[in-house]
Amino acid sequence: MKILAIESSCDETAAAVVENGRKILSSVVATQIESHKIFGGVVPEIASRMHIEAISAVVDEALEKASVTLSDLDAIAVTYAPGLIGALLVGVNFAKGLSLATGLPLIPVHHLRGHIASNYLTYPDLEPPFMCLVVSGGHSHIVTVDDYTSFKIIGKTRDDAAGECLDKAARAMGIPYPGGVNLDKIAANGNDLAYCLPHPRVDGSEYDFSFSGLKTAAINIIHNAEQKGEKINREDLCASYLKAVTDCLCKNTVKAMEEFGYKKLALAGGVSANSVLRRRMKELSVQHGWQLFLPELSLCGDNAAMIGSQAYYEFKKGNVASQSLNAYATMPIDNPVF
Ligand code: KG4
Ligand code: ZN
Repeated sequence: MKILAIESSCDETAAAVVENGRKILSSVVATQIESHKIFGGVVPEIASRMHIEAISAVVDEALEKASVTLSDLDAIAVTYAPGLIGALLVGVNFAKGLSLATGLPLIPVHHLRGHIASNYLTYPDLEPPFMCLVVSGGHSHIVTVDDYTSFKIIGKTRDDAAGECLDKAARAMGIPYPGGVNLDKIAANGNDLAYCLPHPRVDGSEYDFSFSGLKTAAINIIHNAEQKGEKINREDLCASYLKAVTDCLCKNTVKAMEEFGYKKLALAGGVSANSVLRRRMKELSVQHGWQLFLPELSLCGDNAAMIGSQAYYEFKKGNVASQSLNAYATMPIDNPVF
């Protein structure tokens, strides 16, 4: 089964053709990073307009690279939630148009389910059940993937997502957008014990995260130094901050893995590209005897191949949308509606 998938939930316009959920025939990503860089973050209105400009060419390129035409396809898939509403609407409307014109089924895909599916593309033999730490710019979840379309949230962030926490502190340090990526590189040359940062916990909920206090603590260090005319050591602060964020992610994940007795752990989402998080999860997996699944770096960030992969399993479950499909800025991963 060949699925054309479209993704436009944030600042990448992406299209891919994926066969039977596991084989990428093509994957095209047009990034808007340069346009948002001068603002220090994604500007939703600009993102929507740029998706409109890019989407036709990106879809054409995906079809061409896969050496298929619309008549070779079996379905059209699209990210419909969660994300920036104006950005999502571009992909959803384009996919609806293609579905109407071709008569092909329209498969709505939850963005975070797509991120998890990037592991199916990296590891053709991986099958649920497994536990997954999903860490992106907008979400931080520990979920159990009990089946391809059955998820249970074990823990999630009560405030900022891990990616957002990295991006905001990076911005305060004058590190260009996308902050998390650049902070990762700068941290590589720093001492992660140089700065003492809090490790916030959520009272009564050992699997939930809270990152806003940690972010504020880092920003306070930066502002205090500025006010005193002192210089912070950027490498050391990046390394210490990244250590604090990954400490929180690792601690709750270990607890969840032990408590729920899973032996397979996957990472997913943009922050799963982080070098420190990957290294520490590898160490923990050896220590605890888990099998660890890390998405290929090219599949960690937003792309449409992961959407095409998850779409295959959504379709098999009968999750097909009508022409009334809408986009949603928020949507739970465990019980999505469309
Ligand atoms: O999944 P994603 O591409 O978009 C969302 O769905 O949000 O995640 C983007 C997030 C951003 O916060 C970005 O800074 C972060 O992933 N990110 C990283 C790295 N690469 C991307 N954070 C830390 N280290 C990285 N290497
Ligand atoms: Zn994403």
